[in-house]
Amino acid sequence: MIKQYLLAPGPTPIPDEVTRAMAATIVHHRTPQYSRIFSEARQGLKTLFGTQNDVLVLASSGTGAMEAAVANLFSPGEKVLVVNGGKFGERWLNISNAFGLQPIDLKVEWGKAVKVEAIEEQLKRHSDIQGIFVQASETSTTAVHPVREIARLTRNGPLLVVDGVTAVGVFPVPLDAWGIDVLVTGSQKALMLPPGLGFIGLSDRAWQRMEKAKLPRFYFDLKLERKSQQKASSAFTPAVSLVFGLKASLEMMQKEGLENVYARHERLARATRAAATALGLKLLAPESPSPAVTGILLPDGVDGEKLLDYLRDQMGITFAEGQDQLKGKIIRIAHVGYIGSFDIIVAVSALEMALSKFGVPVEFGQGVAAAQKVLMETLR
Ligand SMILES: Cc1ncc(COP(=O)(O)O)c(C=O)c1O
Repeated sequence: MIKQYLLAPGPTPIPDEVTRAMAATIVHHRTPQYSRIFSEARQGLKTLFGTQNDVLVLASSGTGAMEAAVANLFSPGEKVLVVNGGKFGERWLNISNAFGLQPIDLKVEWGKAVKVEAIEEQLKRHSDIQGIFVQASETSTTAVHPVREIARLTRNGPLLVVDGVTAVGVFPVPLDAWGIDVLVTGSQKALMLPPGLGFIGLSDRAWQRMEKAKLPRFYFDLKLERKSQQKASSAFTPAVSLVFGLKASLEMMQKEGLENVYARHERLARATRAAATALGLKLLAPESPSPAVTGILLPDGVDGEKLLDYLRDQMGITFAEGQDQLKGKIIRIAHVGYIGSFDIIVAVSALEMALSKFGVPVEFGQGVAAAQKVLMETLR
C-alpha cells in the first residue's frame, strides 16, 4: 500500500465531515428538507463572497460559471478586455470568442501579474470596452492579479468579471467592498468538495446590465436561477448531495473563521516557497505568488513529467504539472482547501527525496527545515 496525498490545485482533499454529509440519504429537491439545507448554504456563500446579493449555485464545474457570466451579461459583437496571463486567461478568450464577443487579448508574461497601467492604457485606447475578464489567481502560472486595483478603474466603467476559482476561500476577494461585478468559483478547490458545483455572485450593476444583454442562454439563465434560488430551490435538478456537502464545508470554514482560513493558506504558501528557495530552486511567480498554489522551476535536465510520475506512483504524492510551454519544466504544489502544516512537510520531504533520485544534489532536510520555521508560527 502506498498512502496517497493529493496536493494538486483541484480536486483537493475532502474532510470527513463533508464526506459524511454527502453520504446522507438523498432527498427530493422540491421539499422543505432540501430547502432548509440549501438556505443555510446560500447564507454561508454570501459571507464567503463578501456580498449582500445572491450567490447562485450551478450544477457545473467552474467553467460553467465562467460561461454563465459571459452569456448573461453581454451582447453579440461587444468589446471586452481579457487579461491573458495563463491557461485560464486563455479560457476567458475562448469563451468570449465562442459567444461572438470581440475580445482584446491583453497578454501577460506567464508567472507575472498584469500591470494596472496596461489595463488603464487599453481603457483609454478603447472607450467601448464593456467588460474586463481576469483571474484573481491564475492557477496555471501560480500568480495573482491585482483585482482590487483593477476594480478601482472599473467602478463607473466596464463590468469587472473575476475568475476566483483558486481565490475565493483562499484570500479575500470581497465582491461588494471591492466593487467587483462578477465573481465565480468552483466546488473542488477551497470549498473542499468534489467537482460539480459552480458558483457565481453578481453586483447590482451586473444584474441591471443583464436586462439588456442579448446573448443566448438557457441552462445558465441566471435570472431564472435567481428567481428559484431565492425560494431555496433551483430551476433544474440540483446536485443534491454536493449541496449537503457544501453546507458542511461552509460550516467548517465558518468555525475556523474566514480570517484564519486566509491566514492558513498564506502561511502554507510561505512555507512552501521558503522550502523551495532553501533547496536552491526558483519560483515561477516570485513577485506575485498565489496563496493557493506554488510553482517551482525544476533544475535543467530534470524531466518534470517523469518526476511527477515518480512522486505519484512510487511515493503516493500528487502535485500538478506545468501546462503548454511550462510542461516538464515546473511542478505546482497546491495548498488550497483541506490542507494543513504537515501536508506541506510531507510534500517538501517527498520533493527532496524525488529530486535526489533524479540526480539533483539535495541536502536532506534543508527544505523541510525552512518550511518548519514558517509553520512554527502557529504553535503556542
Ligand atoms: C483559475 C481557474 N479558473 C477556471 C478553472 C476551471 O474550472 P473547472 O475545471 O472547474 O471548470 C480552474 C480550474 O482549475 C482554475 O484554476
